[in-house]
Amino acid sequence: MVKLSVNIGGVELKNPVMTASGTFGYGLEYSDFIDISRIGGIIVKGTTIRERQGNPYPRMAETSSGMLNAVGLQNKGVDHFVSEIYPKIKDIDTNFFVNVSGSTIEDYVATAEKLNDLEKIPGIELNISCPNVKEGGMAFGTSCASAAEVTKAVRRVYHRSLMVKLSPNVSNISDIAQAVEYEGADSVSLINTLLGMAVDAEKRKAILSTVTGGLSGPAVKPVALRMVWQVSQAVKIPVIGLGGIMSAQDAIEFILAGATAVQVGTANFIDPCISTKIIDGIEDYLVRNKFNNISDIVGVI
Ligand SMILES: Cc1cc2nc3c(=O)[nH]c(=O)nc-3n(C[C@H](O)[C@H](O)[C@H](O)COP(=O)(O)O)c2cc1C
Repeated sequence: MVKLSVNIGGVELKNPVMTASGTFGYGLEYSDFIDISRIGGIIVKGTTIRERQGNPYPRMAETSSGMLNAVGLQNKGVDHFVSEIYPKIKDIDTNFFVNVSGSTIEDYVATAEKLNDLEKIPGIELNISCPNVKEGGMAFGTSCASAAEVTKAVRRVYHRSLMVKLSPNVSNISDIAQAVEYEGADSVSLINTLLGMAVDAEKRKAILSTVTGGLSGPAVKPVALRMVWQVSQAVKIPVIGLGGIMSAQDAIEFILAGATAVQVGTANFIDPCISTKIIDGIEDYLVRNKFNNISDIVGVI
């Protein structure tokens, strides 16, 4: 028997595979395809203090080995989550984390406070790294001072596990990771999308309505792996790795580079069953290589 369970900032996951925010809805949307309770953790879509319409269309573009999105945190707001979604997910046997996004520190704090009392939500993922909103989002995650300030403010009011999601659009991601660890983050997840752009030459126009958007998928994997490797050496808290994971082999590469757990994002759009296939593939890898415990391979590089 192989031990797949991992502890992420005080939350025990039955296996190291989570689904990434914005790519898996509230999990329920996928329950026709897979038993979502098999997944180690589900990060629900970006949630803000008030409803957001998101950006105008077109807000998706396919690119070589990846995709660009500029959805812009479309969601119905935290009160809708608490009253309508939470009752539907609370008895599913996995760990739901709410991805908390905001435009001001007060927004982040107010949203986190409303999630404090939800017994079956063991943690939040603080999104200080979204490149697709005009104000806030990535702005918080690209300087040590603002990343520290928002983490400190949320830490003061939020008493469950606090995961902070880091932006790759920085010159030194380890410094940002250390700043949020110092202010009380229980774990860090990385990477959010890389700022990119796509052009339609025939129309002589940018494809996305916002011109720029966030790049995800296999194209970003080498950058994400490098950052996970760097950050895991810079902090003591668990690192959750993501960016271009399409297979169990990709997930294992992140774990070898220093991730205690991984998140699967864009791959869910191609194969809705991919997260459970990745769990099975990790188990198979451990058996084949004669490891008893997933922790035996974390950060061996
Ligand atoms: C359509 C789409 C929507 C996303 N929405 C969010 C979001 O609401 N909050 C967030 O933190 N990240 C969001 N992301 C970023 C992903 O969670 C993930 O960090 C990124 O896509 C890299 O992983 P991947 O290459 O496996 O997709 C979104 C990504 C996509 C493609």
